[in-house]
Amino acid sequence: MNEQIASIQSAALELIAAASDERSLDDARVAVLGKKGTLSLAGALIKDIPNEEKAAFGQSLNSARTAITAALEEKQNALQAIADAAALSGIDLTLPARAHPTGSLHPLTLIRDEAIQILRRMGFALADGPEIEDEYHCFDALNTPADHPARNEKDTFYFNSGKLLRTHTSSVQIRTMESSTPPIRIIAPGSAYRRDEIDATHLSVFNQLEGLFVDTDVTLPDLKGTLEYFLREMFGTSTEVRFRPHFFPFTEPSFEIDVKLQIKGQAPRWIEVAGCGMVDPAVFESINATRKDNALDPGKVTGFAFGMGLDRLAMIRWGIKDIRLLIENDVRFLKQFA
Ligand code: DAH
Repeated sequence: MNEQIASIQSAALELIAAASDERSLDDARVAVLGKKGTLSLAGALIKDIPNEEKAAFGQSLNSARTAITAALEEKQNALQAIADAAALSGIDLTLPARAHPTGSLHPLTLIRDEAIQILRRMGFALADGPEIEDEYHCFDALNTPADHPARNEKDTFYFNSGKLLRTHTSSVQIRTMESSTPPIRIIAPGSAYRRDEIDATHLSVFNQLEGLFVDTDVTLPDLKGTLEYFLREMFGTSTEVRFRPHFFPFTEPSFEIDVKLQIKGQAPRWIEVAGCGMVDPAVFESINATRKDNALDPGKVTGFAFGMGLDRLAMIRWGIKDIRLLIENDVRFLKQFA
């Protein structure tokens, strides 16, 4: 190797070895390889060198550049490793990570999904209908005449168009029977609206789950068995269930269903969770009239229907005393369901 270049190389390697931080290493790089660096200046001399020595000189230059570049890189890595170790000193990597708060499903979503799962196991399929309904599907087809109190302006949200926000999910029964033929076995969870004064047990927007089963010989024991089974799946096998005779225009006979609520430290009490009954033949007749056929021949088919309050089910399940908690989105409340 050319002597001059050999001495430039060894000076450069010393400089690199002496560099104690990134900055002095960078200075060393510039001092050797920079435009006016020692090796660059030596390289410029090649033009004054006799032709027969040019190749050997060029080789010396190249091998010096390779050695210096490798030394720079090695030193750079070593300095980085020292800097990393310093940055990590005092940090205990074995400590558990800080917990991130995660979201959770709303209690109403939980109870709705659970109700759907139980009923789907019994063969009920999901059905849907509009929340902005007409009076026909919400009332008339459900055998509820114009003078029925449920149709009072004070109880229902009417639009100028004459449409209304459905007061119950029972309208989905009608829409389903209009578009399908028995056997029909559906459930329809969804919102319902009423002009109720908001208090601990009432909201003007609430949630129901409607059910309908129509086939050639559906009986009252089928209705009872289905709903008792459902409520015991929901609240435990020893849950006491009571069917109380009631009146609904679209079922005959009709019942309200109560569940016995046993909260620790409180006297047990009955709480209403659903309305139900055997589909009134008048409902089948009005659907046949719309369909212009006799697909729901009251002489051949029977059915049962039920509508339950999902908010109620959630309140019973978790002992929630005030229904307003379900819409306030208070994280202290919601995170108890995470
Ligand atoms: N739609 C009724 C309500 O909102 C509940 C109901 C009662 C639904 C009897 C039914 C039923 O399907 O058969 O109060």
